[in-house]
Amino acid sequence: MKTWAIYSLKGGVGKTATAVNLAYEAAAAGHHVLLWDLDPQGAASWYLGVDEASGLSAKKIVAGKTALGRHVVATDHERLSLLPGDRSYREWDVRIHEAKSSRKVLETLIEPFSETYSLMILDCPPGIGALATAILRAAERVVVPVVPTPLSLRALDEVRHHVADNKVGKTRLRPFFSMADRRRKLHRDLIATPPDTMHPYLDVTLDYASDIERMGEHRAPVACFAPRSRAAAQYRALYAALG
Ligand SMILES: Nc1ncnc2c1ncn2[C@@H]1O[C@H](COP(=O)(O)OP(=O)(O)O)[C@@H](O)[C@H]1O
Ligand SMILES: [Mg+2]
Repeated sequence: MKTWAIYSLKGGVGKTATAVNLAYEAAAAGHHVLLWDLDPQGAASWYLGVDEASGLSAKKIVAGKTALGRHVVATDHERLSLLPGDRSYREWDVRIHEAKSSRKVLETLIEPFSETYSLMILDCPPGIGALATAILRAAERVVVPVVPTPLSLRALDEVRHHVADNKVGKTRLRPFFSMADRRRKLHRDLIATPPDTMHPYLDVTLDYASDIERMGEHRAPVACFAPRSRAAAQYRALYAALG
């Protein structure tokens, strides 16, 4: 089983939209996909039709006292299953920090799913605490949406320093430009010549698109309600760049 995390230090950069659409593309391509919504806000779960908190407890999960597999739910999409978010996930950083084997905590939780799934996608909350460190360690690809602005690039730099400081291992970061607005010269310039901190990056730019905002109305991946849109094509290309 492959594990991909969709992660950024920053919020509102398109992580959840990317996680949901990549999960859909991978399932459509034949993978058995489990999307784990690690965010207490549960937006990925909501996009996939799950309204309620799951009743999980971050404390129990980290302590290994939860049979996580029992909480997996099917979605409307073939081969795409969901491990829903929960409000208790606000406590991830504290609970992982407390754990004895915090370095391995996510690997241990993820491993049993490899019997059933060929791809695990983690939709991560923003931040750079104990959960982020565990994610950076556990995922073989860490996909980082970066809005083409200096501040977003600075945040990416910070993540790179965090990776180095915590000896997370070989660099798994795969940034790509997200929410790009080609009418803006700054965006165009950064996309044309990505700065060093972007390397190695996924050579697919996801444009700012109202179709992506409309996921909230449809509660579905873009390809389900706008299959011929540019946004759907770009998510497909992003999946191909990773796969
Ligand atoms: N490429 C995009 N174009 C337009 N809107 C987007 C795009 N990506 C995400 N959004 C919208 O921006 C908001 C934040 O996106 P989201 O994926 O939830 O970000 P994050 O998970 O990083 O906080 C949402 O309302 C989403 O619909
Ligand atoms: Mg999100």
